[in-house]
Order: sequence, then C-alpha cells, then structure tokens
Amino acid sequence: MIQVSGLQKSFTLHNQGGVSFEVLKGVDLQVDSGECVVLHGQSGAGKSTFLKALYANYSVNEGQIVLRDGDELVDITSAQPRRIIALREQTLGYVSQFLRVIPRVSTVDVVMQPLLDLGVDKGICEEKAKTLLSRLNVPERLWQLAPSTFSGGEQQRVNIARGFIVDYPILLLDEPTASLDAKNRKVVVELIHEAKARGAAIVGIFHDEDVREAVADRLVDIRAV
Ligand SMILES: Nc1ncnc2c1ncn2[C@@H]1O[C@H](COP(=O)(O)OP(=O)(O)OP(=O)(O)O)[C@@H](O)[C@H]1O
Ligand SMILES: [Mg+2]
Repeated sequence: MIQVSGLQKSFTLHNQGGVSFEVLKGVDLQVDSGECVVLHGQSGAGKSTFLKALYANYSVNEGQIVLRDGDELVDITSAQPRRIIALREQTLGYVSQFLRVIPRVSTVDVVMQPLLDLGVDKGICEEKAKTLLSRLNVPERLWQLAPSTFSGGEQQRVNIARGFIVDYPILLLDEPTASLDAKNRKVVVELIHEAKARGAAIVGIFHDEDVREAVADRLVDIRAV
C-alpha cells in the first residue's frame, strides 16, 4: 500500500539567514495492507515531518512515495494537486494531533463531512458519526455544538471520529492518543484493530507505550540527524 524509497527532506529557513538542515536522510519504508507500522525516534527526529510528507503536505528533496489507489500506483512526490485531493478523499486519511476547528460548524457535521463528500447518504453519515462519537465517549449534549470550546481531549476525540468516519485504505496517525485517558486510549486501539482487520495500512506515532504495544506490527526508527 505504501512504498517509500530514499526519502530525503531538508528545511531551509529563508527568514533566518537561509539556514538549511536535513531532517530525513534517505528513509525507506514499505507498509502492506492490514499492517500497522509505528514510527519512533526522539523528539525532533522527523516523525511528524515524515507523516506530513506521506500526506503530501510537505514537498521532499529526493526519493519516492508510492501509494496504492485501487489498481493504480501514485507517486505523490510528483502527482498533480488534483490527484492528491482525490487521493485524500478516498484513500488517504490523516489524523493530526490537533483538531483544526471551523467556527459554528457542529461536532456531528465536522465528523461526518469526509463521508458526505464521498456522496454517501446524509442519514447514514450522521448515524456513523454518532456511533463513533458515542464510542469515543463524547457526551451527547456536545454533538450539536461547535467543538471550538471543547477541552483538548474532547477536541482530539472529535478529530479521531472524523479520521475514522471513512474506511480509508491508508491511515496516518500523528499522536492521536496524546491527551486521552486510558479508557479512551483503549477505544482508539480498538478502532485501529478494526481498521487493520478490514485491510488498512497504517503508519502511526504514539507516545504511550501501551498503545504502541497493542497496535504495532513493526517499529521503524526515524533517526535524528
Ligand atoms: N515547517 C518546518 N520548517 C522548519 N523546520 C521544521 C518544520 N517542521 C519541522 N521542522 C524541524 O524538523 C525537525 C523534525 O521535526 P518533527 O516535527 O518532524 O519532529 P518529531 O519527530 O515529530 O518530534 P516530536 O516527537 O517532538 O513530535 C525539528 O528539528 C523541527 O524543528
Ligand atoms: Mg511530532
């Protein structure tokens, strides 16, 4: 599902004297269907940078990132923006550490939007959104409110529900359990197991050792320079 080879990424800080440093030095990674690979490495090693490159949020200097989209293989380092948008709609899910809240949009709407965008019937989307929200213990009184005033952990659970509303074949998870209690971490572990069972290829970053041990098929070291 994912084939990364020779991935090299440097950052250049143009507004700070043009200083340049290399974060990813030739990373290779292959992830198969139904497999969960966990990235580890010290803070600042480049784990989030690597996930953002996989989501085509960051351009890279060298290397290839080939993703399977149905019968097609797409190298996202050279794909057209339109191709990447289509890939993100149907194939590639990404749960960031923080929810980017849109003011005045209710929690249920925030969660169901990606499924609605695929043309799925609104009633079905709403039902699936509510099921995920209740599994993640987001109180029902919050569902019709916009998540901007929610606690950090509540926002994160809304974010996770949104990330799991579509059955993406590829799922990227950047510390989705960072501000969750043990009970909710367990729910996320279950969601990951279910995604693996339906054949999703997952790349994740997890702070908690218990989560890592519960979901990882393989650990991959992203080394600091
Ligand atoms: N947009 C950016 N511009 C410049 N430098 C960046 C940018 N994003 C990340 N970096 C730098 O790249 C390095 C890797 O950052 P990254 O966020 O990938 O680390 P990480 O492994 O996810 O760390 P953590 O465990 O703390 O989340 C850091 O030194 C960071 O300062
Ligand atoms: Mg990070």
